[in-house]
Amino acid sequence: MPSRRTILGGAVAGAGLAASGLGGESRFDPGDWGSVRAQFPLTRRRMHFTAYYLASHPAPVARAIERHRRELDRDTAVYVEGFDAFDLAARKAAAGYLGGGPDEIALTDSTTMGLGLLYAGLRLRPGEEVLTTEHDFYATHESLRLRAERDGAVVRRVRLYEDPATATVDSMVSRLRAAVTAKTRVVAVTWVHSGTGVRLPVREIADMLAGRALLCVDAVHGFGAEDATPGALGCDFFVTGTHKWLFGPRGTGVVWGRPEAWALVAPTVPSFCLPALLGWWSGRPPEGPAAVLATPGGFHSFENRWALPEAFAFHRAIGPGRVAARTRSQAGRLKEGLAGLRHVRLHTPRDPAVSSGLVCCTVEGHKPDAVVKRLLGEHGIVASVTPYREQSVRFGPSIVTAPAEVDAVVRAMAALR
Ligand SMILES: Cc1ncc(COP(=O)(O)O)c(C=O)c1O
Repeated sequence: MPSRRTILGGAVAGAGLAASGLGGESRFDPGDWGSVRAQFPLTRRRMHFTAYYLASHPAPVARAIERHRRELDRDTAVYVEGFDAFDLAARKAAAGYLGGGPDEIALTDSTTMGLGLLYAGLRLRPGEEVLTTEHDFYATHESLRLRAERDGAVVRRVRLYEDPATATVDSMVSRLRAAVTAKTRVVAVTWVHSGTGVRLPVREIADMLAGRALLCVDAVHGFGAEDATPGALGCDFFVTGTHKWLFGPRGTGVVWGRPEAWALVAPTVPSFCLPALLGWWSGRPPEGPAAVLATPGGFHSFENRWALPEAFAFHRAIGPGRVAARTRSQAGRLKEGLAGLRHVRLHTPRDPAVSSGLVCCTVEGHKPDAVVKRLLGEHGIVASVTPYREQSVRFGPSIVTAPAEVDAVVRAMAALR
């Protein structure tokens, strides 16, 4: 094992350099939405309502990726030795945004990876159950199904609403409360449902549970769209990709957990952190921060992971509150416009207390995929079909869209009559 000490100095300096990627050559004005949009190479020939899908890299993130890529290509084995320091810089940036310390953050490649690791590794005693909902995405359902198949863990599902458009905080909390039993050890939910756009009242759910069960949240469609930390939400685990609404590097994600909650998770993939190696060398189980030990080892596409600090810096420069307000106001404008069209059925609640940036709808007499094709082909509007059994058309207004584009969506949807 080569010594990391000398390299570490260089790596830390490198991380500092990376963190300064916002300044200098760019004339980026975070207070100006036009300038924010100009940071993205997204084609102007289309309107990009897909923040829920996969990020385009804004200029500071692209520059940081390029810097790491260049060094990895130029001096691979030496540069990669800095991975402890670069990983720590990524963890610190995530913790700075989410709250807590860097040791509470596991680095992953996606939300799906985070959910898979969490639900595979959570220690359950015989008889303890996992409660999830009918509205969660495939990644949660499948992680739990695989877990149940492996060790017989009991997983139950509850329906929190029949008609998403009329979901309320009280009705969702009381349906969940009614489904919790003395055996419920884990409650596995999703902050913003990607099939309907309903936003769960996570804080109220945490208060209702009052510590009786671990509250695990697939946070991906609230993260970077809402201005709330896991601490404010009151959850135990907060699992998210950083490559959607945050517009971070593709192939990156994080899991935040309370330290006491992390103690209940067994790693699945061997970590490459130093405590893990020291444990191996000494023939004992590794001792170290559980989140770090739960971070899958092996070499990764490090140029992307190590550009995470720039993604958080970009978002913070604009301001999480401003991003959330911009996202919410465009979603509200879109919902208002769609609600005025008689042939369109809005699935997402109009009430901001139970919705976020995602907007889902169906069009009378038109299949969702036909609508998405026409929006793209005839109007240059990029949307998508929800990947659920019951499909709808889905929009994600964000920092790369503008109110005038929202109006263009409404006009295009009106023309579908
Ligand atoms: C609720 C939800 N969770 C997780 C994912 C997957 O995210 P990732 O690509 O980060 O694995 C999606 C869709 O992409 C989703 O809608």
